[in-house]
Amino acid sequence: MKIIKVEDSLEGGKVAFDLLFEKLAAGAKTLGLATGSTPITLYQEIVKSDLDFSDMISINLDEYVGLPVDNDQSYDYFMREHLFNAKPFNQNFLPNGLAEDLDAEVKRYDAVIENHPIDVQVLGIGRNGHIGFNEPGTSFDITTHLVDLAQDTIEANSRFFDSIEDVPKQAISMGIASIMKSKTILLLAFGEGKADALAQMVNGPVTENLPASILQNHPDVIVIADQAAASKL
Ligand code: GLP
Repeated sequence: MKIIKVEDSLEGGKVAFDLLFEKLAAGAKTLGLATGSTPITLYQEIVKSDLDFSDMISINLDEYVGLPVDNDQSYDYFMREHLFNAKPFNQNFLPNGLAEDLDAEVKRYDAVIENHPIDVQVLGIGRNGHIGFNEPGTSFDITTHLVDLAQDTIEANSRFFDSIEDVPKQAISMGIASIMKSKTILLLAFGEGKADALAQMVNGPVTENLPASILQNHPDVIVIADQAAASKL
């Protein structure tokens, strides 16, 4: 695991962009993308650039269950706002959180990932060490699945909603086994709220209690952390 320390999220976005640029130049075609506040500066750098993504494929990590795509908290909406409207891709895949048959949707998404191996996966990290919506206790062997969100995650994400009651209680998430199949993983972490999770991810035991710790077993992980997030490393 390579760790790059940066001053702040702005510099982090630039460093992540440069790394992504190298991978694109080397032929990367399928990007695994994340939502949340963390990847925003990276997406801003992409939008500012003159890179063309029209032959690229994106596969997002997760989506809330039950939010229409025009709800501004859906991850579909987030991705269009922050990236896809400005940089059209050949194809954008996200789980459909409104699918009537969620089990079938989970299977469909697994097939999407199987058919489009991810070259570069962008990740944030939750305060409790989750990646995607793989909460503590999730099996490392799991692929796409329906998740009951942890209370900690609901609380953390409630800042984006009018009230905590509005935060969806479930999501569809790419699984840890799917994430681990990505060729390169770029994990970004900004702010002191991530310091404990990051320290455990890097130096703690590999345990399902801290989902991101599995990344110690991946051959090509680059962590970009600001001073605050890296303060306990
Ligand atoms: C969310 C997302 C994750 C994200 C994490 C951190 O719940 N499902 O993909 O990495 O929590 O969010 P943020 O970047 O806003 O801190």
